[in-house]
Amino acid sequence: MADTQRDLSPDPIEYDGPPDYRVVGRHGVYPETNHDEIARFNFLAQMNRHLSTKVMPGVGEAFEARVEPSFTKKNKRDFENRHEVRKAMLNDPMFQWWSALRRATMETRQQAGRWVTLRQADELNAKVGALTNGDDRLVLNPKFKQPRSTEAIDHHCMPGSYHTELVPGDVTGPANYDAGIFATTGGMLGRYNDGGGVAVAEWVKKTFGDDFKPKRILDIGAGLGHNVLPIAAAFPDAEVIAVDAGAPMLRYGLARAKTMGIENVTFIQDDVSDLSRFEDESFDWIQSTMFLHETSYKTMPMIFAETQRLLKPGGIVLHVEQPQYADTMPLFEQAMRDWDAFYNNEPFWTKMHEVDLDDWMKQAGFGDNHLIHGGVAAVVDKDVFPDAADDDSEDFGRKAAWHVIGAKKVA
Ligand SMILES: C[S@@+](CC[C@H](N)C(=O)[O-])C[C@H]1O[C@@H](n2cnc3c(N)ncnc32)[C@H](O)[C@@H]1O
Repeated sequence: MADTQRDLSPDPIEYDGPPDYRVVGRHGVYPETNHDEIARFNFLAQMNRHLSTKVMPGVGEAFEARVEPSFTKKNKRDFENRHEVRKAMLNDPMFQWWSALRRATMETRQQAGRWVTLRQADELNAKVGALTNGDDRLVLNPKFKQPRSTEAIDHHCMPGSYHTELVPGDVTGPANYDAGIFATTGGMLGRYNDGGGVAVAEWVKKTFGDDFKPKRILDIGAGLGHNVLPIAAAFPDAEVIAVDAGAPMLRYGLARAKTMGIENVTFIQDDVSDLSRFEDESFDWIQSTMFLHETSYKTMPMIFAETQRLLKPGGIVLHVEQPQYADTMPLFEQAMRDWDAFYNNEPFWTKMHEVDLDDWMKQAGFGDNHLIHGGVAAVVDKDVFPDAADDDSEDFGRKAAWHVIGAKKVA
């Protein structure tokens, strides 16, 4: 057959990339984004997805083909821990390429979101101020001293982290966090970036049944409330208290909640390692979501002890996090999951994922037989992205699927 007769049209390609940024959920204080800003976020989402689905497998191949054989040949033994794997990977060009690009997408995402929010700072600050000034569901403490763990670090390369206020009443930090997370996660958390909280609320209803009717719920390290709002919506009769160290997060959080029609959440500024403002046994449910990895080794036991003190008998505490580094987890996977700790300004990530959380919960006073273990995957709008559980790409440390570790307090 002559070449001219062959069908050279390509097979139709099924699109499996991230959703277009234009489907993002725009609540009443969501920053406005113009054509070029949307294009930039779309590029970042595509790039992140490309890195996790197309480049990361090559890093795995480089480990097996080059890094591991060369280490064992030189040292006449296998790797003993994830740190040895990470350090050996540092010399491999494939890892260097992937790591540099991943860091670059994070830096670019921060600057992209920063520009979006800074150029409309006055309007955003005024809008949030109008929604929150005089509302007693926002409790800020002007004398609050940031814990060193939140103050000293620009978490995940976020300029000013969670607490910085460029002017009084500033919300550009949280608005940046909110506007860019859809790009960082490739939409896997859903339209309102709340797929984790939706999943937790569903899991709690399924696991504890209709008898569990929490009257008071405390969310620690709640941020701007992405994951506590679905809980508040699922338990509309509950009084929900969201505590965070960052005043801008809380300010933006209340304004966002109000424009989304969620009225049962109070946002309070405090350090969750000392919640003496609340009485003993005053909560039915204490929740943390993607929070523990930003707490220090020193404060984590204090936080666990506070949750034990604050729970009513019969109450539950749940922490939702990426999986711990169990012995059964391959060292290569552990090393890749540790990437954020060393190259993305998440210094507490590595230690937090190594400790025996069950043991720490027991030391805080929770009974051995009353520990809770589970797993949740982001529940997202089907038209935005398939459930994260169905997605088989592996973006170590960023996948929208988490472990639940918790405990029930017995009388
Ligand atoms: C990664 S964000 C998680 C936000 C939220 N849970 C979510 O699911 O979207 C971590 C939050 O924890 C807060 N945080 C860290 N250490 C804290 C502490 N000791 N006391 C109160 N908040 C803290 C930070 O200010 C930040 O907003």
